[in-house]
Amino acid sequence: MGRLRSATGRHTCPRRMKLAGGLAALAVLAASPLVAGTSPVTLERQGTAAHLSVDGKPFLVLGGELGNSSASSRSYMTKYWPKLKAMNLNTVLAPVYWELIEDREGSFDFSSVDGLLADARAQDMHLVLLWFGAWKNSMSTYVPGWVKRDQARFPRVRAANGTSVEILSAFSPAVREADAKAFAALMGHLKAVDAKGTVLMVQVENEIGMLPVAREWGDAAQAAWAQPVPDALLRPLREGAAVEPELRALWQAHGAKAAGTWDQVFGDADAGQEVFTAWHYAQYTDAITRAGKAAYPLPMYVNVALNRFGKAPGEYPSGGPLPHLIDVWKTGAPSLDLIAPDIYFPNFNDLAGRYSRADNPLFIPEANNVTAPEVPANAFYAIGNLDAFGFSPFSIENADPKSQAAVTEAYGLLRQLTPAILKAQGLGRVAGFKPRVLEDGTVLDAPVTRALGDYRFTVSFIDSWTPKAEQDIASHGGMIIQTGPEEYLIAGRGLIVTVAGEPGAKGDGPTLAGIDKAVEGTFDAQGRWVPGRVLNGDQTHQGRHIRLPPDQFQIQRVTFYRYR
Ligand code: DGJ
Repeated sequence: MGRLRSATGRHTCPRRMKLAGGLAALAVLAASPLVAGTSPVTLERQGTAAHLSVDGKPFLVLGGELGNSSASSRSYMTKYWPKLKAMNLNTVLAPVYWELIEDREGSFDFSSVDGLLADARAQDMHLVLLWFGAWKNSMSTYVPGWVKRDQARFPRVRAANGTSVEILSAFSPAVREADAKAFAALMGHLKAVDAKGTVLMVQVENEIGMLPVAREWGDAAQAAWAQPVPDALLRPLREGAAVEPELRALWQAHGAKAAGTWDQVFGDADAGQEVFTAWHYAQYTDAITRAGKAAYPLPMYVNVALNRFGKAPGEYPSGGPLPHLIDVWKTGAPSLDLIAPDIYFPNFNDLAGRYSRADNPLFIPEANNVTAPEVPANAFYAIGNLDAFGFSPFSIENADPKSQAAVTEAYGLLRQLTPAILKAQGLGRVAGFKPRVLEDGTVLDAPVTRALGDYRFTVSFIDSWTPKAEQDIASHGGMIIQTGPEEYLIAGRGLIVTVAGEPGAKGDGPTLAGIDKAVEGTFDAQGRWVPGRVLNGDQTHQGRHIRLPPDQFQIQRVTFYRYR
């Protein structure tokens, strides 16, 4: 079942260990509810991390998401499948369009889905399917014509001034039922034709959120606005289990009330209206997810259109599963397995960090456009530092030669490292590195220090052997994986790594440390290490550091030792 389980298969309650700021936390949240049936794909817990398990084997998603319209034509996609395979992807994220599968109400045509399945299998690849249902980027343009044209049955959102928006109302039972019926039919079809788990997960809707206003103003929405805030949402705030600081601050600013209507509890300004919108979107999404899981319980998630600092709800998609609303969504849509951010802004480390919580394993379905130079570094950081179980740049088939080469090499490295990564994630044996970048693009290139086992690594993002002006520092990144008491894999590009003994660590040994042996190499298809050069002399600056050059991706297997 698509819920968190321990590596032994025992169900566990997700425990919040990491918060937005990386602080330890104590609150225990409810696990996803039990769902009927089984699927070959599950989410399994390992230490503080979780990974996908496919037919009982852990799986790291090295993915890419197709441009929106590509999957609507099988012949259009023909030339791209080999390219995607050659880029070392193991998974393609592809939309399923409601307008294509249910052109006539109640009559389903899954040929577009079957084509995707056949073409992915032919390349020995997996799929994550994206349900373009009632909402895609807020709007309702992927619904079939019979939904679009029947406004009496399927009402649209009304703004405060009464104007209509091309967004179906989250308050309409008819919309929800039609959407849920189609989604359940899709999941039932997958259950029938995909017993081996070509499809790993399903995204419910796409980038949900209200535009251009903070909330709906139609009759049903107005009636809901006058209702009391559900106790299910207030309880985590009262009991301290809701941890996102913005929600708590908003609640406290309005008197930290134990009960009351939406405007009493959260205020009637945009921020309060947004909480109301988030709750109702979450509840709607929960209904769709439940309907889908009742048919076939694959892991399911929602993706997020993030907001920029200083923008108001409605200028960005209001009430989506945004960082400041994660608790609302977790409470309102408990049947979702995770919330997955689409990160196009430069401040990747900070944004991804907010979605890496013990109750929310990290998956990045849209990690910027594939052409962005920092994509590989972000992959290393997310997987190595935040225990992401998957990563996927957008518009993957449209990679230009430069980004194609970068992704191919980075994913090639990650493929080789996958067994070591999966063994290390969640157990404090892997760290990822890339410079922190602010929302305005400022690159904070100061070195970062991390301890792994008995050694402390200081990682610099500036290559001391290349003129700084020639370096794209934001694109430098990599990971360090501990594979033995003194043995580490160091991989990526553009990093200079120095090492010291970790003071106070087990054995309390000397704090001076040196390189016993550094070897470059690769892992073959059977996972055997194939050594290349032994790196010493100028290549390690006479033993002073490990260097991953900025112009190539590399794996080095390094043994360290301590001395006095
Ligand atoms: C985010 C959406 O989720 C995608 O479907 C696509 O529209 C991209 N934005 C375009 O940048």
